[in-house]
Amino acid sequence: ASLAALDTEVPESNRLQDRTAPVPQAPVDSFANTPDTDPALAPNRAWGADILARIPGSTLGNELVAQTTVTDLGELNRIVDAAVEHSTSWAALGGAGRAAILHRAGAVLESRRAELMEVMAAETGKTLDQGDPEVSEAIDFAHYYAERAKDLDTVDGATYVPAKLTVVTPPWNFPVAIPAGSTLSALAAGSAVVIKPATQARRSGSLMVQALWDAGVPREVLALVQLGEHELGQALVSHPAVDRLILTGGYETAELFRSFRQDLPLLAETSGKNAIIVTPSADLDLAAKDVVQSAFGHAGQKCSAASLVIMVGSVAQSARFRNQLLDAAASLSVGYPETATSQMGPVIEPAAGKLLGALTTLDAGESWAIEPRQLDGTGRLWSPGVRTGVAAGSRFHLTEFFGPVLGVMTADTLEEAIAMVNRIDYGLTSGLHSLDSAEIGLWLDTVQAGNLYVNRGITGAIVQRQPFGGWKKSAVGAGTKAGGPNYLVGLGSWTSAQSTA
Ligand code: ALA
Repeated sequence: ASLAALDTEVPESNRLQDRTAPVPQAPVDSFANTPDTDPALAPNRAWGADILARIPGSTLGNELVAQTTVTDLGELNRIVDAAVEHSTSWAALGGAGRAAILHRAGAVLESRRAELMEVMAAETGKTLDQGDPEVSEAIDFAHYYAERAKDLDTVDGATYVPAKLTVVTPPWNFPVAIPAGSTLSALAAGSAVVIKPATQARRSGSLMVQALWDAGVPREVLALVQLGEHELGQALVSHPAVDRLILTGGYETAELFRSFRQDLPLLAETSGKNAIIVTPSADLDLAAKDVVQSAFGHAGQKCSAASLVIMVGSVAQSARFRNQLLDAAASLSVGYPETATSQMGPVIEPAAGKLLGALTTLDAGESWAIEPRQLDGTGRLWSPGVRTGVAAGSRFHLTEFFGPVLGVMTADTLEEAIAMVNRIDYGLTSGLHSLDSAEIGLWLDTVQAGNLYVNRGITGAIVQRQPFGGWKKSAVGAGTKAGGPNYLVGLGSWTSAQSTA
C-alpha cells in the first residue's frame, strides 16, 4: 500500500473537537493522579485477601438497587422534574463550590476502595488487579473535573451556561470508573444528572452513586434510577427536559438513542476494534507482554482492548516473538476473581452469538495457535484464544467481539499495516511497537484512532495524561475526550458576557 492509501476520508462530524469553541487553558499542576494499591507490600496483600474472602457472598449495593427501581412513567417524570428544578441551585454554587464537593467525593471513593473492588468482582467478575486501577481512575475523575470546574466560570469574556440535566447511561465493563467519570463531569459542569447503571452492574453503579451522595451531592441533583421496563429507558433518553446524554456502549446503541431524539446532544464513546502493530525494530519481548495484557485483561472486555496484532515484515518469522506471545497467553491463569491466582476472569454472561462464534469457529485461512477452551459448565469461563492467518477484510479483522480472542495478521510494510488499521470502521485505541523514530512519526501522522500508544499497552488510559476518546464509529456526537481539559465544554454552552449583562 502506498501512503496515498492511508489518507482515507474521515467525515468532519467525527473530528474530535469543536475548534471554534473557547477552550479553557487548564493549569495542570493542581492535579495529581491517585496511586493504585501496591501488591508488593505485605499489608496490601492481606487487605486484598480480605476482599477476596468476601466476594462469594457479597450483597453490597443490593439495598440501594432495590430502593430505586422505577416502574412507571409518572415516577420517572417526577425524578426528571426534580432534577431540573434543583439544577439551578447546583449551578449557582459556582465552579469552586462544586469543586469542593467533588474533591470530597474523591476522598469518599478512596475510603471505599475495598468495597468498590468487592462489588465489581462479585457482580461483573472483575479481578482485583483490574478493579484497583479502576477505582483510582474514578477518584482521578473526581479531583480532575473538580479543578476543571473552577476554570469554567469565565473564559475569554464568555460565560459558561451548563446543561440543566444530563442523562448518563454507562456500560457494565467499567462499572465504577465510567459511570463515575460521566456523572462527575456533568456535575462539575453544573448540570444535574439522572444515571441509569447498566443492568449487569447495578450494584457497582449504586455504590458509586452512594459515595457521591455521602460527599454532599444532593439526591435530587444526582438521581439514580433502575428502570423496570424497556420503554422507560426510551422515555428517559428521549425526555424533552434532558439537555445532554453521556453514553458509553455499542455504536448501534448510540445510533438507536439518537433515533429516539435527533436534537439531543450526545457525548458517546462507542465500540472499538483495536490493533497493535509490531515492526522489526521493536523490543519484541516488551511487545509480547503488552499485546497479551491489552488483549486479555478483563477477558478482553474493554472497548480499548487489543483484538489484533499486526506483525510487520520479519516479525512474522520471529520464533522468539511467536513463542513469547503464545506462552504468555497460554500460561494466563483463568478463574473467578475470588481465587487469588486468577489473572483473567470470566466473561460477563455465558458466551453467545458473535462472541461464541469468535471463540469456536474459524474463517478461511485461519487456524488456532491457541484454541479457546470452555473451562466450566457456566459458559462464562474461557481460556484465551489466539487465531493466526486473519486476512485483510475478513470478519475477524473488522468486527468487535469483546472477549478473550486475539487475531494475528501480517503485513509486508508498516504502511500496509496502517492501512489495515484504517480500514476498520472504528478508531478508538491503537498501538505501535517500534524503536525507529521515522516509523513512529509515520504511524502517528497517519493512523486513525483517538488514543495512540507507542511502546506500551493500549488499555488503561490515565486521567489528564491520556484523555480518552475515539474517532470514526468509536465516537458519536460531541466526542471530546473524557479526562481531558475540554470535556466539560461539551456539557454546556457559552454566551458572550455582554448578552448576559
Ligand atoms: N478508559 C479505558 C481504557 O483506557 C476504557 O482502557
